[in-house]
Amino acid sequence: MRTFQFHYEEYQDAQELPDAWKELLKAAQQILATAHAPYSEFKVGAAVLLGDGQVICGVNIENASYPVGICAERSALASVISQFPHEKIEAIAVSYLSKSGENNLPAFPCGMCRQFISECEDRNHAPITLILGGQTGPVSVVYSAKHLLPFSFGGKDLQ
Ligand code: THU
Repeated sequence: MRTFQFHYEEYQDAQELPDAWKELLKAAQQILATAHAPYSEFKVGAAVLLGDGQVICGVNIENASYPVGICAERSALASVISQFPHEKIEAIAVSYLSKSGENNLPAFPCGMCRQFISECEDRNHAPITLILGGQTGPVSVVYSAKHLLPFSFGGKDLQ
């Protein structure tokens, strides 16, 4: 029997995070105000920390033709790859605001974003740390998108 295991952190509160991650999560919490989410009313913000310390943000952008919409993670990373194609990606923080008012638990990236971040890691030649938190409450830190996507499909499979 083979087992897939990975390590992750669970901080009880954002205040316990190292400063750089605390700031990154705050950036994700702030940018989500600009989300275009009239259909789900689930606003998501993502903030990407680059190797040179810059922070690039993105939000979810929905569309009346629902599948056209894009998640905050891919929106932020598309900006990074377009504008800073050679900069190392260190981490991505993701937060959300739901209409239910229940915003006190981390939301983990959807499957499509896991796949997208996994390819960014390949391009980056290094894993990307994921910092996931609501508006309050615990924060989960995962050290690679591939930990959330075992047996992932990637460029290697197209060789
Ligand atoms: N959403 C994200 O932005 N990121 C995720 O990882 C999960 C879902 C967005 C997509 C859609 O606009 C809304 O949240 C509800 O699914």
